[in-house]
Amino acid sequence: MKPILVVDDDPQMRDALREAIQRLGYEATVAENGQDALGKMAGTPFAMIITDMKMPRMDGLTFLKEVRRRVGNLPVLVITGYGTVENAVETMKEGATDYLMKPFSFDKLNGKISSIMEASAADREIITGNPKMVRLLQITRDVAAGDTTVLIYGESGTGKELIARYIHSQSLRKSKPFVAVNCAAIPEHLMESELFGHEKGSFTGATDKKPGKFELANDGTILLDEIGEMPMGLQAKLLRVLQEREIDRIGGKHTIPINTRVLATTNRDLRKEATEGNFREDLYYRLSVFPLHVPPLRERPEDISPLSEYFVRKFSALLNKEVKGLTGDALNFLLRNQWRGNIRELENALHRAVLLSRGKLIDISDFMLDEPPPELKTGISPDNSNRGIKEMERDLIMKTLRDVNGNKTKAAKILGVNVRTIRNKLSEYGKNFPDEQ
Ligand SMILES: Nc1ncnc2c1ncn2[C@@H]1O[C@H](COP(=O)(O)OP(=O)(O)OP(=O)(O)O)[C@@H](O)[C@H]1O
Ligand SMILES: [Mg+2]
Repeated sequence: MKPILVVDDDPQMRDALREAIQRLGYEATVAENGQDALGKMAGTPFAMIITDMKMPRMDGLTFLKEVRRRVGNLPVLVITGYGTVENAVETMKEGATDYLMKPFSFDKLNGKISSIMEASAADREIITGNPKMVRLLQITRDVAAGDTTVLIYGESGTGKELIARYIHSQSLRKSKPFVAVNCAAIPEHLMESELFGHEKGSFTGATDKKPGKFELANDGTILLDEIGEMPMGLQAKLLRVLQEREIDRIGGKHTIPINTRVLATTNRDLRKEATEGNFREDLYYRLSVFPLHVPPLRERPEDISPLSEYFVRKFSALLNKEVKGLTGDALNFLLRNQWRGNIRELENALHRAVLLSRGKLIDISDFMLDEPPPELKTGISPDNSNRGIKEMERDLIMKTLRDVNGNKTKAAKILGVNVRTIRNKLSEYGKNFPDEQ
């Protein structure tokens, strides 16, 4: 994996950043200022850059511009000192991927690094061996080149956001911001301000003026994630933005012209929602100028094996493990599973398996769970994505028990767990097999 380049004139900060990066399982290279960094970039490809803003010789903003001139889509995380929001916005305009304002906690830093590295995985790898997906990626590259609005639809966890990021990375806007807005996560009363911004004092709590995501994404791409969740009132406003290519900040006196490409995702059947009156029909037609359907994992069984190998490598590196692959049994087990949560569910299952694994290969028992300690639970995945794993576990236990005629000791041995675990699970399921003699 390519190293992360850290640019900071403060040696203490440099060391701290380097350590944080290494603890996350990535390599770090350090530079003292922009000039030094550009020199290092000439010789080595980097996965991302973390740069301070105030530095001697070449300041962060000049450096950022120079990076953008040279490499379009290299992610850059900017650290701004004691700055104003304005400052941070300026760096976003120059193509920073994200910013972190001093002082910051290491948790926050880790979060930013991880999500940027994860997101930029989109540039590197969309894994597939499925003909339908290969075709989809071809079409995606073709449509990326233009400025068309694209509606990406498909079940939860199929890779819609990945495709959206891929479109941006393959477009002429790739060196400009990519800004994602999750319409399902923002409370209705804040969404308008989030999208279009507001002026100071325009409503209670608007203590400062704030640009909206459309403005932040100017010259770049905005992703309206889960657009089916957008409230009706706002749909009308969005439609106007798409038609007029200008926005109104809340409380603003003038409209602001914008040049932002719009991508949207949904896991709903928007056409149906539109005919049933739950989604504006005119907006639906505006958005689906170019619809792309991402098929569920069960329709592309060829992908399970390469994706699994990829996730094992990814988490092995991330968690600093020695795991190199999967046993045949483990792979067969994955191939037989339903994956209703699609690739996200597969990814979570493998994340967990790599975490639990002690050997060089993931085995079937690594998918078996004793109740994990709470700190592991939160680190891995939200409870709802664990549901799939739970079902998988239950199927595995029940099947194994049937194979050994209900002998819990034998089943426990096959699964590599304590017999007590099997008993506990059975009572949790409300099932019983008589205790063997
Ligand atoms: N073809 C692929 N190759 C590698 N990783 C993939 C692929 N497809 C999806 N992923 C990974 O699976 C996870 C889920 O993908 P993504 O977030 O794009 O799905 P989504 O359709 O937006 O899901 P949701 O509906 O839950 O928001 C991400 O971590 C993504 O990187
Ligand atoms: Mg998504």
